[in-house]
Amino acid sequence: MRIGVLHPGEMGVSVAQALADSGHEVGWVRNDRSSATQARAAPFTGFDNLAELLETAQAVISVCPPHAAEAQAREVAAAGFAGVYVDANAVSPATAARIAEVVGAGYVDAGIVGPPALTPGTTRMYVSGPRAEEVQSWFGAGALTVVRMAGDLTAASALKMAYAAYTKGSSALLLAVNALAEATGVRDVLAQEWAISQPGLSKRSERTAAATSRKAWRFAGEMQEISQTFSEAGLPGEFHAGAAQLYERMAGLKDLPAAELELVLQHLLEDL
Ligand SMILES: NC(=O)c1ccc[n+]([C@@H]2O[C@H](COP(=O)([O-])OP(=O)(O)OC[C@H]3O[C@@H](n4cnc5c(N)ncnc54)[C@H](OP(=O)(O)O)[C@@H]3O)[C@@H](O)[C@H]2O)c1
Repeated sequence: MRIGVLHPGEMGVSVAQALADSGHEVGWVRNDRSSATQARAAPFTGFDNLAELLETAQAVISVCPPHAAEAQAREVAAAGFAGVYVDANAVSPATAARIAEVVGAGYVDAGIVGPPALTPGTTRMYVSGPRAEEVQSWFGAGALTVVRMAGDLTAASALKMAYAAYTKGSSALLLAVNALAEATGVRDVLAQEWAISQPGLSKRSERTAAATSRKAWRFAGEMQEISQTFSEAGLPGEFHAGAAQLYERMAGLKDLPAAELELVLQHLLEDL
């Protein structure tokens, strides 16, 4: 098949590679993309603009920052695309349902768990809805595992929200706790207490700072989607709305090397 990937970021390019490994021709769109995306996507077929890609593509997989997912779908639908459209972004079931309405019968919901799929067994793309089996069948080879879910059209998005609510939510909580201890002058004593009663948390704080600093700019949108998912399920959404605000404060770390905890705390506290 000819399948477009919008866009080949770190995760998107690994999805593109899994498709290529499974024998498909993978296309991407050059315009508006950074030099980093252009370099990552170089092994695949580049098109100058979306209209050119959609002229030949039978299917599209959207893998972009969550805050851009709906606009991305609207752009593809506005171009009259009638093929299969897989939204693999970290969005709430409600956002996924809106995207499904925009896209129509070709919509397939997906949610990716794990790091970019470079090694088999590390990364799963959950798919749901009536055409999920079709999407699963595209991935005969490659490092990405595709898991078909029973349930609603947007079950894959719900699963992604629940998963990331804990992983990225607990990372935000740990960084916030460090910032609180710093702001109130008790960080040294907290570290001593953690060494006694919560061994590993100091090291985990450092690792969390380094692992989140460059991605926080896109985690904020994901936290808002999670907050909305909690609210729609009748649960308090404020926890992840707070996490979104914390990650927004870290957005300036995007293009720097992985940050040390001290620098992350400066960003978290500078708005206070
Ligand atoms: N990375 C992971 O470990 C991971 C894990 C699970 C799920 N995911 C899912 O995959 C999605 C993408 O992650 P990633 O790691 O590939 O991110 P990434 O490396 O930051 O790549 C994002 C891609 O989207 C493009 N983009 C940036 N702004 C955009 C916009 N406003 N509209 C459309 N495209 C835009 C970027 O292009 P330019 O940079 O060229 O502008 C880049 O090609 C995430 O939102 C998440 O839902 C990722």
